[in-house]
Amino acid sequence: MGLYDGELHDLHFAALLRDVGMLKIPAAHQGDPKYFRKHPAVGSKMLSRIRLWEKASPIVQGHHERPDATGYPSGVGRGDEICLGARMLAVCDAWDAMQTDDFHRSAIPVDEALEELAAHVGTQFDANVVSTLTALAQEGVL
Ligand SMILES: [Fe+2]
Repeated sequence: MGLYDGELHDLHFAALLRDVGMLKIPAAHQGDPKYFRKHPAVGSKMLSRIRLWEKASPIVQGHHERPDATGYPSGVGRGDEICLGARMLAVCDAWDAMQTDDFHRSAIPVDEALEELAAHVGTQFDANVVSTLTALAQEGVL
């Protein structure tokens, strides 16, 4: 997607630390959307105070925002309001969730996962990011 090495470094750490804000949300409230939906802003603020990770901060801030502006915590989404790293992280997070077995469900086939991403382009996911991930998956890179 044309990121420079430094931007990839920031995206890498943002991906690893995307949900760090959950550490500041009391366990008893973590299932409540009123509290849960604050974790990107809380995590972003935490990272912004650490020089090594401050550039990961806007990526963490935007990782649950959506192009249709119905995401959280801010409900932004039009134009470039969501940084590219956050748009990439949102798609990759969904991809990873669909490709991984967990306690609740099994991983789904690659074709189904790609269809799911395509079905939500423009609403939940960025079109260019989904297009790039789809090409990589079809090449067998993922
Ligand atoms: Fe998150």
